[in-house]
Amino acid sequence: MDKLIISGGVQLNGEVRISGAKNAALPILAATLLADEPVTIRNLPHLNDITTMLELLRRMGVELVIDEKLSVELDASTIKELCAPYELVKTMRASILVLGPMVAHFGEAEVSLPGGCAIGSRPVNFHIQGLQAMGADVQVEGGYIRAKVNGRLKGARVFFDVVTVTGTENILMAATLAEGQTVIENAAREPEVVDLAECLIAMGADISGHGTDTIVINGVEKLHGCSYSVQPDRIESGTYLTAVAATGGKVKLKNTRADIMEAVLQKLTEAGADIKTGDDWIELDMHGKRPKAVNLTTAPHPAFPTDMQAQFSAMNAIADGVGIIKETIFENRFMHMQEMLRMGADIDIDGNTAVIKGMDTLQGAPVMATDLRASASLVIAALVAQGDTTIDRIYHIDRGYECIEEKLQLLGARIKRVPG
Ligand code: EPU
Repeated sequence: MDKLIISGGVQLNGEVRISGAKNAALPILAATLLADEPVTIRNLPHLNDITTMLELLRRMGVELVIDEKLSVELDASTIKELCAPYELVKTMRASILVLGPMVAHFGEAEVSLPGGCAIGSRPVNFHIQGLQAMGADVQVEGGYIRAKVNGRLKGARVFFDVVTVTGTENILMAATLAEGQTVIENAAREPEVVDLAECLIAMGADISGHGTDTIVINGVEKLHGCSYSVQPDRIESGTYLTAVAATGGKVKLKNTRADIMEAVLQKLTEAGADIKTGDDWIELDMHGKRPKAVNLTTAPHPAFPTDMQAQFSAMNAIADGVGIIKETIFENRFMHMQEMLRMGADIDIDGNTAVIKGMDTLQGAPVMATDLRASASLVIAALVAQGDTTIDRIYHIDRGYECIEEKLQLLGARIKRVPG
């Protein structure tokens, strides 16, 4: 297993080009199953999760033409297998996103149940209940979700008890080809849901209200081909901004969007960053200062995203003052903090709340990545620590950060990958 070795204590300065958003690209790739014609998706990030989704679609019989810039043309009219097998779903929970499109377009689907995961139990009951409300017969047997419908799904009112991002995406996709109107209430407002809706509209879907908590979909008989470019990754953007802020440096992000990450930019400003934004760029300057500790509570969009919580914990670990972090989305998303304690951080955890007292510095140590965002936070902790940190199990980071060591090297970081 590859490891990252980081020699910390360097202030980061420079420019970073942001990649396409993983969590928008995954549902958009699944959505191509709904079309009767080839669909071209652009600005896909080079990531293991994207390769897994492409492999899943290929095995189902979807014809893929990939160019050197990772624009992919997908043709679902050649589909043969309506199954997402355990061996792929276990490596990527987002495989569940093929469920809604398959039932809606082909009348049946078999998708392995994703198991538990490193950040919480993550059930998929709302995905199943939503499809049942639309008339699908859904059984869970032998570790698989088996869904069937005679004819088309029927439009329905789907109310989510808890805001769910991929649950909203699955029902949104299914509803585009259903008979009649579907109204999703307490829908996720995440920018990735909006990007998916815009792509579906480009394919001919009739959708309104995306970006609010009520999405209305009038089903159509067919969806056609289109060419669509995935939005920039707001979590990758936030991760680089936080890494640079933690080191007291200055950075310009290119190919990004400030309007979809207001909560994060506001917290960085509170930490002492001077932030300027334009249409497709964000500039952050700490003027060489140490960040101030910030309090935050994770919640569905537009509040502070759970996917940025770990990175802010790392910044708080060396900030001036005490920061209180409350995680309300996943029940087990503080694993990175145990590793930071090994680097000398001062953190008190009580249930879903962590009180982090900023230290003048952390010390390099061997640490282990437990999930994608936890690994990003350990990279930040390592960048501000004195001495060398070795981060093990970095396959987690390759699921969500394109060329992370090259991008950080361009900012001046001393980071290298060693094969394990
Ligand atoms: N939930 C249920 N039942 C369901 C679905 C969700 O109880 O049927 C609960 C979950 O257990 C959780 C809460 O609802 O407590 C919210 O989970 P959600 O369904 O929104 O999460 P997700 O759709 O599985 C996506 C992202 C995650 C991100 C979360 C929250 C993708 C592919 N994944 O997951 O991204 O943390 O939304 O914003 O979009 C990551 O990129 O590192 C990552 C984990």
